[in-house]
Order: sequence, then C-alpha cells, then structure tokens
Amino acid sequence: MKTFNILLIASAALLSAGAQAATGEEIMTKSGCMACHKVDVKLVGPALKDIGKKYKGQDVLAKLLAKVRAGGPGVWGPIPMSPNPPEKISDADLKTAVQWVLSL
Ligand code: HEC
Repeated sequence: MKTFNILLIASAALLSAGAQAATGEEIMTKSGCMACHKVDVKLVGPALKDIGKKYKGQDVLAKLLAKVRAGGPGVWGPIPMSPNPPEKISDADLKTAVQWVLSL
C-alpha cells in the first residue's frame, strides 16, 4: 500500500510537470490557433515563421498579446483574426505561445 501511494504521488508530480512544460506549439494546437496558423505556410493567418521574422529584435510582446486577445485585421492584410478570450487561452499560455512565435 505504501509503495502504491508513493507511485501515485510520483505520477501526479510527473503529470503536473508535464502540464507546465507545454510548448508554445502544443498550446497553440490545443487552443485552436492552428486552425488558422501553420509554422511554415500562410493559412488564414500568416505563417508563424513570418511573424517571428517580421518582429525579430523588436520589443512587441505586449502589443502582440493585446492583438491576439482582441483579434482584428490590418497588419498582414484585410482578413481579421478572431478574438481569443481568456476562456480559450489563459494569460500564461498566451504569453508562452507568443514568445514561441517570436522565437521562430
Ligand atoms: C480565425 C483564424 C485565426 C485564429 C483562430 C488565430 N489567428 Fe492569429 N491571425 C489570424 C489572422 C488573419 C492574422 C493577421 C491579422 C492582421 O493582418 O492584422 C493573425 C495574426 C496573428 C499574429 C500577428 C499579429 C500582428 O499584429 O502582427 C499573431 C502573433 C497571432 N496571430 C497569434 C495567434 C494565436 C496565439 C492564436 C491562438 C490563441 C491565433 N493567432 C488564432 C487568424 C487567426
């Protein structure tokens, strides 16, 4: 019984560590971003690599976090991004996702 409890605690710890370590790509997949974005090619939205390239070396994290939350058109063309409310993606996940995009 004791061994069983220790195993349970160990696997719970592993599970939560796994959840914390979700990559930007995993977050964007589970949050539905990848319905419109792909890493290498333009879909409905711009290719994530092109976004990374466009803003390379610029201090745009806060601006992009607000843009993804609110959605909207105009930077890449006339097609708007739909809003992405906190029910869809948490602040922490959004930050990880946009930081990942900016690293591409
Ligand atoms: C319904 C389709 C759609 C979904 C879903 C979507 N996007 Fe977008 N995304 C777009 C479009 C279209 C643009 C280009 C908007 C523009 O031209 O200003 C864009 C632009 C962006 C940009 C660049 C913004 C800028 O101002 O340069 C980022 C970063 C981004 N999306 C991240 C995300 C993330 C993260 C998610 C998921 C939470 C997401 N997108 C979900 C369609 C989408």
